[in-house]
Amino acid sequence: MAIIIDGNTFTLNTNNTSYIMQADQYGYLIHLYYGEKVQSAPYNLIVYADRAASGNPYDVKLDRTYSLDALPQEFPFDGMGDYRHPSLRVRDEEGNYGCDLHYKSHRVIKKEPLKGLPAMRGGDALEITLTDDQIDLDVILTYGVYEDVDLITRSVKVVNHGKKITLEEISSANLDFVTGNFDVITFAGRHANERQPIRQYVDHGRYGVYSTRGASSHQYNPFMILCDHETTEYSGQAYAMSFVYSGNFYGEVEKDQFDQFRMSMGLHYEYFSYPVEHDESFVAPEVIMTYSHEGLSVLSQNLHQGMKKYLIRDPYQGKIRPILVNSWEAAYFDFTGETILNLAKAAKECDLDMVVLDDGWFGKRESDNMSLGDWYVNEEKLGGSLADLSKSIHDLGLKFGLWVEPECVNEDSDLYRKHPDYAIKVPGRRFVRSRNQLVLDFSRKEVVDAIYEQLIEILDHVDIDYIKWDFNRCIANVYSDDKDSGKMTYDYVLGVYDLLTRLIERYPELLIEGCCGGGGRFDAGMLYYTPQIWLSDNTDAIDRERIQYGSSFAYPISTFGSHVSAVPNHQTGRVTPLNTRGNIAMSGSFGYELDLTKLSDEEKAEIREQVKDYRKYQPLIHHGLYYRYTNPLKDMIDAYGFVSEDKEEALIFATETRKIAGVQAYFVRIHGLEKGCLYQDDEGHVYDANVLESVGMPLRNTLGEYISFRIHLTKK
Ligand code: DGJ
Repeated sequence: MAIIIDGNTFTLNTNNTSYIMQADQYGYLIHLYYGEKVQSAPYNLIVYADRAASGNPYDVKLDRTYSLDALPQEFPFDGMGDYRHPSLRVRDEEGNYGCDLHYKSHRVIKKEPLKGLPAMRGGDALEITLTDDQIDLDVILTYGVYEDVDLITRSVKVVNHGKKITLEEISSANLDFVTGNFDVITFAGRHANERQPIRQYVDHGRYGVYSTRGASSHQYNPFMILCDHETTEYSGQAYAMSFVYSGNFYGEVEKDQFDQFRMSMGLHYEYFSYPVEHDESFVAPEVIMTYSHEGLSVLSQNLHQGMKKYLIRDPYQGKIRPILVNSWEAAYFDFTGETILNLAKAAKECDLDMVVLDDGWFGKRESDNMSLGDWYVNEEKLGGSLADLSKSIHDLGLKFGLWVEPECVNEDSDLYRKHPDYAIKVPGRRFVRSRNQLVLDFSRKEVVDAIYEQLIEILDHVDIDYIKWDFNRCIANVYSDDKDSGKMTYDYVLGVYDLLTRLIERYPELLIEGCCGGGGRFDAGMLYYTPQIWLSDNTDAIDRERIQYGSSFAYPISTFGSHVSAVPNHQTGRVTPLNTRGNIAMSGSFGYELDLTKLSDEEKAEIREQVKDYRKYQPLIHHGLYYRYTNPLKDMIDAYGFVSEDKEEALIFATETRKIAGVQAYFVRIHGLEKGCLYQDDEGHVYDANVLESVGMPLRNTLGEYISFRIHLTKK
């Protein structure tokens, strides 16, 4: 059974893990255990001792051995003597800090959607209500249990039955560990270099990632791993938290004075001070958690399989994605309708499925300095209507996609001239421009409505199969015209989700690809609405290897918008073989980002082969179990593989990222195959799975740079 309640002890079981908590003798909700599946609750892990400088909550009277400063808690709060990072910090109407939360009740339910927020679908759930009877505040902790994929979700709802309070801080998930020897793995970067893994030993202090930029950010991803110092890809314990949210966040690991650890994730407390009136409630978004005792590959597989099954929306869960060509690196702003139609004809020759018209088709947009906010077609530039262009493309047997950036506005636009107050800026103060644009205040419904009306005017009348939803700057100058500014950053994200929801409800088949100057908002929140996200504005194949590697720890490979671009690459100037570019882009939702009309017949023929191969392998790439075999940040070769769940088939990719003379062969150790079995590649070579795992597959080093290998194995 997934949820077991034994008196005041609550156990959540998945196929391979147990999560256990207890409402103790004083009614505080204590965290007992999260890890490999167990038969009984390990009560003896809780050690009571007089901790001298740590305080004792009022209700424990003279018991000096009971301190919340030392005990492992489920939902630590500010106000009863725990000085570690709290999950909840409130102020009452008089401005006083603190609360005192005790167990009140629980119930087992079918997991319900979170109003206005993305969350994993389905599953059973346990709700535990804590209460502070002095300020009349209920806190409902919801735990979703996904047995088959070893995932547990957590979210929090605060219901205020008392006088107005203000939430100064609220986190969705907290994990306390009474002991450990941990590393934390976070994912950091910048524009065009997102999600590079960083592994560091956790010593005393707080180690964390965060965003206060309004979006989850290029700089830090809302995802983190805590693992034993010894954990590898294939062995050892590891825990992960992934925030199902796309705005300001923090994720943190803290080692305390008693050498205990706290891992937590939630809304960022900067720019956040959220009033909750009498009888109002507030929901803190969901965190997905998982645990593996078999290392990091299994940890990632839990997340991949779970997100594909329970987070990605219908009808895209298991659906084959269109292979597209995007006009951005093919033409930038310099195109007419004829340019796009010619691109479509070349796409047809190459057997692609879809043409995407990127930035530049609306208002008077000839550069990135104008027209955001004016979502009407520039027919003069296109030399006709968008509907006609779409029809011509569909007549070729292709689908048609369109770029939009709904959340932003240029000062040089009709929308801004009419409604300057729609843009986020502090009245009377100088503001921040970025890419010469401003962010629209999506925390206001009328602003979201105005953009919605413009978008549906197009989508209702033009045959559009896909949109690329971009967002090219961060929020600064936090302010909202109609509310407390402490509410703005959270309400803004709800506004984004609202517009996405409305579009999906109106056009259920519409495929939306997320984008944020590349991968600046690549998070589980966006994946709920947008089954794929443009991984990065960096399309250089070798740089992409590292970005794909980092992203693979947290997110399913099918969610990576991944394209072959031209050489020399537009971001790095690097020249890589077309075969290598194709192999690397195949680990994702595949496409092209170059002017196909300029290619030679040989190159087009090679692309046709790539497209054929991708169609053949897409089910394995999208649904197989993903294994990282090397680390491209350190190793000379980047190797990874997809193994079908029944282990009948595998697809291995390996690409040289550096070249050194005298290396005769690379030996790539292949994990995930069925031990004791033989596998055969498409050229008839036979391999023993045990040897592949213990010694490796030899890949010959030949002359040339950035050579890439692709090996398809089937079980004999
Ligand atoms: C940033 C995106 O990541 C690019 O792919 C492209 O769509 C540009 N914006 C267009 O302005």
